[in-house]
Amino acid sequence: MIDNELTRIIRDRRSIRKYKSEQLTEEQLQTLLECGFLAPSGGNSQNWHVTVVQSQDYLGRLSEANRQNILADKDLPQEIKDRFTGSGASVSFGAPTVLFISAKGSDVNACFLAEHIVLAAESLGLGSCYLGGIIRFMKAGGKEFIDELGIPDGYDLLYGIAVGTPDEAPDAKPRDYSKVNYIR
Ligand SMILES: Cc1cc2nc3c(=O)[nH]c(=O)nc-3n(C[C@H](O)[C@H](O)[C@H](O)COP(=O)(O)O)c2cc1C
Repeated sequence: MIDNELTRIIRDRRSIRKYKSEQLTEEQLQTLLECGFLAPSGGNSQNWHVTVVQSQDYLGRLSEANRQNILADKDLPQEIKDRFTGSGASVSFGAPTVLFISAKGSDVNACFLAEHIVLAAESLGLGSCYLGGIIRFMKAGGKEFIDELGIPDGYDLLYGIAVGTPDEAPDAKPRDYSKVNYIR
């Protein structure tokens, strides 16, 4: 791979599941948002929406509701339930900011916005992690948490992105580089 600033950022990014509590600066947050909104979209439709959640009260209530839901699930093995104690109980893994991403119609463009944000976070020395599992809970048993987000009408909540200062440096997950064919 050619080594340059962007390829290093792409190579070094990891999903971070342990964070320090310090909040993003406003400049960092606005940089992430601006990088997200610079993503391409079909016909420049920009059919996305970002809800910035920095309310620790909201994240705490969501975490506890999700935890109670997990603990009440009779089909889940105890070893899974045990993960939802201590720092594992936090839906954002302790990250002080979660960006909830929504889309109107096709979700393709919102995925580009999200990945711009994730790579920009890495470039700023911040960690991030997509949060898909919590959305399943919010859409099933936690609809009031979606209402609180104030997402515009017609938009569908896709996932969250936890962002914060990393407190771990995990190894890269394996990748299958054979998923390509060539017509030359
Ligand atoms: C749409 C999407 C949803 C995800 N949801 C979760 C999640 O709910 N919890 C979690 O810990 N990781 C989640 N991840 C992170 C993946 O597990 C992770 O990207 C994958 O294991 C590869 O690891 P890496 O990101 O460190 O390269 C999600 C990733 C994507 C793209």
